[in-house]
Amino acid sequence: MSPPWRGVIEEYRDWLPVTATTPVITLGEGGTPLVHSDWLSRRVGAEVWLKVEGGNPTGSFKDRGMTVAISVALAQGADACVCASTGNTSASMTAYAARAGLRPIVLVPQGKIAAGKLAQATVHGAHILQVRGTFDDCLVIARELSVRYPVTLVNSVNPLRLQGQKTAAFEVVDVLGDGPDLHVLPVGNAGNICAYWQGYQEYAAAGRASRLPSMWGIQADGAAPFVVGRPVAAPETVATAIRIGNPASWSLAADACDESGGRIGAVSDEQILRAQRDLAARDGVFVEPASAAGVAGLLSAAERREVPVGGQVVVTLTGHGLKDTATVMAGFDSVIDTVVDVEVHAAAAAAGLS
Ligand code: F0G
Repeated sequence: MSPPWRGVIEEYRDWLPVTATTPVITLGEGGTPLVHSDWLSRRVGAEVWLKVEGGNPTGSFKDRGMTVAISVALAQGADACVCASTGNTSASMTAYAARAGLRPIVLVPQGKIAAGKLAQATVHGAHILQVRGTFDDCLVIARELSVRYPVTLVNSVNPLRLQGQKTAAFEVVDVLGDGPDLHVLPVGNAGNICAYWQGYQEYAAAGRASRLPSMWGIQADGAAPFVVGRPVAAPETVATAIRIGNPASWSLAADACDESGGRIGAVSDEQILRAQRDLAARDGVFVEPASAAGVAGLLSAAERREVPVGGQVVVTLTGHGLKDTATVMAGFDSVIDTVVDVEVHAAAAAAGLS
């Protein structure tokens, strides 16, 4: 029997900025499934794998970075932490802060956070401030609070976050045996794409991988600063997690794309919602809208014949679908299709069985 998964700090301790005395605040994050997608592989003419990050303890990839950021914050004597968030960072930060005994303060754009994520921050005991503004406005305030007050900023501008998140790239290589040809993922504040690139590079430098993937980032059309080439003042998309107009890790992400021979593109809300449904109906994987952006981007690239034929492709599915059920249900006419009496033949007839 193999030993149980111990969370990313213990699994990858030698690769992370922790010491023997750092208290390890973990929920057993990481070790998420890498699932082969038959229909996507057929559709794009390559071998497509899905890194299902909704399998993390709070339902998104943020937990990888948060275990490191909160553990180090505790070691440094913090007693409060703060983040700006489109929802998942706050869900993760508040869970890890609860374990560490830190006081979590969350800044979110008013009315733009999926209900599941707000419920998470609430139940974990956060002080939630709804800001009349965008995520980008929230981040300005969060940075300012951390400069002027005794509170630790744990957004991905904190390099410890990217350190933790890079472990997802390690896991991909550990499972596939080498780096893929292409790695596709959604981009919002642009931290995660940098984290993966860092992880792939570190593994390659240590001889654990012989190949480095091209990094493809995907944004939503209404929130695509990389594509338009300048910040977007009023970002808008159904994929609220990536409703960001002025990414903090802009230049680092641009470097990751340049160095890897990759790029950042955008897809429409319709393409995102279509990909979300297809993933659920064909692969059995329910993701939130933002998380489907990578798949939508891969599919549209395949239509333009830009995907390397026969290559190995990994797509990160960043967060769980249960975080935002309202958006997905809005796309269906009714929740209950057919009401029947307590009667087997009526049920069979209604279900189309004969
Ligand atoms: N997918 C999901 C589900 C996210 O929550 C985020 C970011 C991203 C993709 C984009 O990752 O910012 O590293 O480029 N969510 C942040 C938050 C902004 O506050 O939860 P990124």
